[in-house]
Amino acid sequence: MEQSPTEPARTPNDVGLWFMLLGLLALAASLLFGVLGAFKFLYPEFLEELAFNKLRPLHVSLAVSWIFLTAIGGIYYYLPNFSNLSSFSNRIARWHFWIYLVTGLTILGAYALGKFGGREYWEFPPILALPIFLTWIMFGVNYFTIAVKRRTAWPLYYWMWGTGIVFFFLTFTESYLWLIPYFRENMLREIAVQWKSYGSLVGSWNMLVYGTALYLMEKISDDEGVARSKMAFGLYFLGLFNLMFGWAHHTYPVPFAAWVRDFAYVVSMTELFLLGKIMWDWRVSLSTRQKFQHRRPYRFLFASDMWVFINLILALVISVPALNLFTHGTHVIVAHTMGTTIGINTMILLASVFYVLEQRVGQDVEIRHAQPISIGFWLANGSLLIFLAALVAAGLIKGTYESDSFQDMMETIEPYLLVFAVAGVGLMVGFWLLILSAISHMRGLVFSLQSDDCPSSKQLGRLSLFDN
Ligand code: HEM
Repeated sequence: MEQSPTEPARTPNDVGLWFMLLGLLALAASLLFGVLGAFKFLYPEFLEELAFNKLRPLHVSLAVSWIFLTAIGGIYYYLPNFSNLSSFSNRIARWHFWIYLVTGLTILGAYALGKFGGREYWEFPPILALPIFLTWIMFGVNYFTIAVKRRTAWPLYYWMWGTGIVFFFLTFTESYLWLIPYFRENMLREIAVQWKSYGSLVGSWNMLVYGTALYLMEKISDDEGVARSKMAFGLYFLGLFNLMFGWAHHTYPVPFAAWVRDFAYVVSMTELFLLGKIMWDWRVSLSTRQKFQHRRPYRFLFASDMWVFINLILALVISVPALNLFTHGTHVIVAHTMGTTIGINTMILLASVFYVLEQRVGQDVEIRHAQPISIGFWLANGSLLIFLAALVAAGLIKGTYESDSFQDMMETIEPYLLVFAVAGVGLMVGFWLLILSAISHMRGLVFSLQSDDCPSSKQLGRLSLFDN
């Protein structure tokens, strides 16, 4: 029998918390490798045994893992609360977790030993992609067997999560087409397919993350209309279109019809704009009591909304084809990537982590960690602004530098890279404060319930307080 959408689940389904905990650890490590990489830009002789070509994949893979793990953790945690629990397989979800963990550690080990063999972003030996495919099938099966049991119309976040799952699978497969000689033997073909798949991959994780944002907005405002409005469905269809065709504006150096790129560019900007607008309207509609009651997740969603608009301005500037010629391959593009993955995705996912903690440990999160959370929040957001400004400045100078001497150019942008690295330290410390506060609570929840398939009466008492 299906449970009513507001009725909480009678199971711990805490496997979602394992994913979130692992995601937080991945973020903490990614930040460290990012900071080391930034100092490597400036002082190549620093930490000689850790070359930049190892630090970069370590940083990026862990950052991407943080996004996937925490988005998946949220779905594993939230979904069974609102559906027929008999179809949710804790066992499959646990296998998913352990296979992911072992594969992830193997990939990190391969990077540390300098064993590559893959392509950009998936630089690990391609054989390690197999367990990732497997876990994704497990996740998809678990997700859809629960989701299809829902008899009432799906709220938008169900569509978004489902679409993200299906398209990740397709685009991840596509990103391995280079293994087939037909693609590998023609450089242009390989680059076009490669970058196309990455553009769509980002689109698929955005579906998971934006779906999570809508879910949180619905719960905080206690208004089901948020995830059913026309504008929200507009966001979905634009996101879907962007996911399928938006890759075109990721491939400026590849020669193909200009209108395709321009169209893709307009679509992706409209998608960001709609997301910002939905969050804006939602914030305006909240009562003071709702904002106060959910102040931690609310704050992160508020920050993410601000970053949507800041990134929109940056994306508008860099995507104008004439300017893109100067900015492509410079730090401006890195600012765009990190601006969106940190400002938008990370803020939404932190909102999700703190929402879960708020539901499970209530005001305790406030009482025990109010100060570090506040300091962490402001330090991370303030540093991010300086961090991105320094990257954009360095990129613009690099893109427009006229002398042929690489040495001269590096000397000119060095002060900007120093500001970037120091702001990166601020960002790392800010996020670490947030991560430590979250982990200190989450650890207790994960380890106290780890071996339970059936909740005790005490847990049931606590779980019934889950959702309002
Ligand atoms: C939530 C935190 C972070 C996330 C999600 C994140 C994400 C990313 C991503 C996705 C890239 C790939 C960019 C591209 O290929 O265009 C990247 C590159 C990079 N990040 Fe981060 N990052 C984070 C924090 C940091 C911090 C604190 C630093 C320290 C200064 C940092 C330094 C770097 C460096 C040096 C690169 C390589 C840039 C290059 O190859 O030119 N990141 N990051």
